[in-house]
Amino acid sequence: MQAFIVYAHPSENSFTRQIRDSFIMGLESSGRRYIVSDLYKMQFKTDMSEAEYLREACYRRDAPVPDDVAAEQAKINSSGAIVFIYPVFWSDVPAKLAGWFDRVWTYGFAYGENRTMKQLEKGLCLCSAGNTMEYLHKTGLLESMQRVMLKDRLFDRAKVKEMIVLDGTSRELESRKANWDSHLRRAFEAGAAL
Ligand SMILES: Cc1cc2nc3c(=O)[nH]c(=O)nc-3n(C[C@H](O)[C@H](O)[C@H](O)COP(=O)(O)O)c2cc1C
Repeated sequence: MQAFIVYAHPSENSFTRQIRDSFIMGLESSGRRYIVSDLYKMQFKTDMSEAEYLREACYRRDAPVPDDVAAEQAKINSSGAIVFIYPVFWSDVPAKLAGWFDRVWTYGFAYGENRTMKQLEKGLCLCSAGNTMEYLHKTGLLESMQRVMLKDRLFDRAKVKEMIVLDGTSRELESRKANWDSHLRRAFEAGAAL
């Protein structure tokens, strides 16, 4: 089963980048094939054109989707699992990844009748959060992040859905250093177990 990694972080010098590398090492340790879309690096366009908006708003599956969108959709349909790796920004995904959903989850592909997107075996969200798990639980923000990613964006598009939050990674917190190794181990294990 090929894994399609959709990765979104603006900096190479980030903990999230380390998470991505550990996850990939885990995949490799179990002989899994994978492909990656590095959204910032490939300068993936995140804002919809008016033509794209009208296609979605008028439920027109006959209007063509742009080539960059079709390329992402082909990567999905050639894979058995999709893995989103990103830092939590404002209790959601970075705008780069939100824009990827806006444009790639098109009518007739990801929703609507006779969808052409295959149902994936697994959808995994592997994210880093500056806040601690305790804070995210207490405020209800964890539940909100899980709902949006697992119950809306992934929904029935994957048979098994999971979100792993690697927490306390703010550069200001002691926990960033203290949790570093265990978080990277968890990312490795998630890759190995996919
Ligand atoms: C614009 C921005 C918004 C952020 N919003 C949140 C947030 O809502 N909740 C949270 O837990 N962390 C938030 N963070 C912290 C990031 O999740 C944190 O930087 C990242 O998880 C770990 O570090 P990295 O950037 O080195 O990968 C935010 C960071 C930035 C830059």
